[in-house]
Amino acid sequence: MVTHTYLIELGRETLLCAAECANLLEWQKPACRLEAIAPHVLLVENDRELQRDFWDLFGGIVRVARCIGTAAELTADGLLLLAEPTCRFEAGSRIVFGLSMFGDKKAPSKEFSMSLLNQVKDRLRERGISSRYLEPHGGETMLTSAQVGESQMLDSGFEWIAVKSKGEWLVGSTCWIQDYSGQSARDYERPCADPRSGMLPPKLARIMVNLARRPQTRTLLDPFCGSGGILMEAMLLGLDPTALDRDLEAVKSARENCDWLQGFVKRELPVVRYTQGDATEMRHYFEPLSFDCVVTEPYLGPPLMKEPPPVRAKQVVRELSDLYREVLAEIRIVTRPGGGVVFVTPSFRDTEGNEHTVPLGLTARLAGYRRSDPLRNIEYVERFGAPPETVKQSRTGTLRYSRQGQHVTRWIHMLES
Ligand SMILES: C[S@@+](CC[C@H](N)C(=O)[O-])C[C@H]1O[C@@H](n2cnc3c(N)ncnc32)[C@H](O)[C@@H]1O
Repeated sequence: MVTHTYLIELGRETLLCAAECANLLEWQKPACRLEAIAPHVLLVENDRELQRDFWDLFGGIVRVARCIGTAAELTADGLLLLAEPTCRFEAGSRIVFGLSMFGDKKAPSKEFSMSLLNQVKDRLRERGISSRYLEPHGGETMLTSAQVGESQMLDSGFEWIAVKSKGEWLVGSTCWIQDYSGQSARDYERPCADPRSGMLPPKLARIMVNLARRPQTRTLLDPFCGSGGILMEAMLLGLDPTALDRDLEAVKSARENCDWLQGFVKRELPVVRYTQGDATEMRHYFEPLSFDCVVTEPYLGPPLMKEPPPVRAKQVVRELSDLYREVLAEIRIVTRPGGGVVFVTPSFRDTEGNEHTVPLGLTARLAGYRRSDPLRNIEYVERFGAPPETVKQSRTGTLRYSRQGQHVTRWIHMLES
């Protein structure tokens, strides 16, 4: 049987993105083999070819390459030989090409990458092919997905991916890149934005929905819908979303954004149901066991422009803990058994540098939720290079998401109802 091998570049929060891959790839029949091979790179082996529309589901993948071979040393001739079966290098043609190299800290250098690119260009010229290559920004050895997309390289050229792992190079040809323009439109072009209550980046919202999904999932509830970031990703994935928010303005914003998305994508999307109400009283609005999954970024406390004093920080943690306990109990009532629940909690520092987190573990256990290790199907997780304590925490179903310059770190909890 033919095995299809893919090299997957994961987003910045590697473990969160890896968990998304592990969940969606677990549904493949027969199951895929997943192996961490370098920081940010996951290898996937599958008996069937995985098509573009499958990769389109993901929020946390930057690019996908088909593995085309391995090499002890990387040379221009070797790269061309490996590319030959998939890219016809015909005399008189013009191509754009690129090379993105990944590996541990000692592996690729910019000088090495530039010298390979120049040698490939020379070899192509000798064959009568006019070519141009794209250079990674600054000291980087990999192209951004926007560079690859805008150059049309995947239509009229080639991008090699080279990953140094276990002393050899795995070489791939890029076959898919993330929809950076669609993500950016949903982030910046939607009509309603509410930066005060904190908008989820579309990528993160997509990852969260995918972490909660099971093969049979059809209906989704976001009980703190805000301006609708999670609803929009659920619509694009073909799920039937229901929105709840205490604030009428938020419900209106969510509706306006979801209506805008319907027009923006120019294809029929599921219709969202909207309710205004309090998440601590969900049982009054929805029948028991109404939803296959719940995905939400609840109220995370007052917006923090700077660190709060310790007394204030402790008070916020107490208030949020009480709110989350009540809400998790309600979610349990309206969610079907086995349904995925993905719930965000915040952590932040006070003026004295102490970190404050809102503990959810015991609350969730007492409310009857289970957790499983989202990375259990990935071999050699340590090769991602994340600190061991971060890996340990991620394995309990609590994954970190932070952005530079933000006072609040988000913790993504994966629970099972
Ligand atoms: C952090 S925002 C959600 C942001 C949303 N994920 C987005 O991307 O736009 C929290 C939302 O929870 C709502 N909210 C606060 N307390 C609530 C409660 N008890 N029940 C329902 N909604 C509540 C607020 O009105 C706000 O819209």
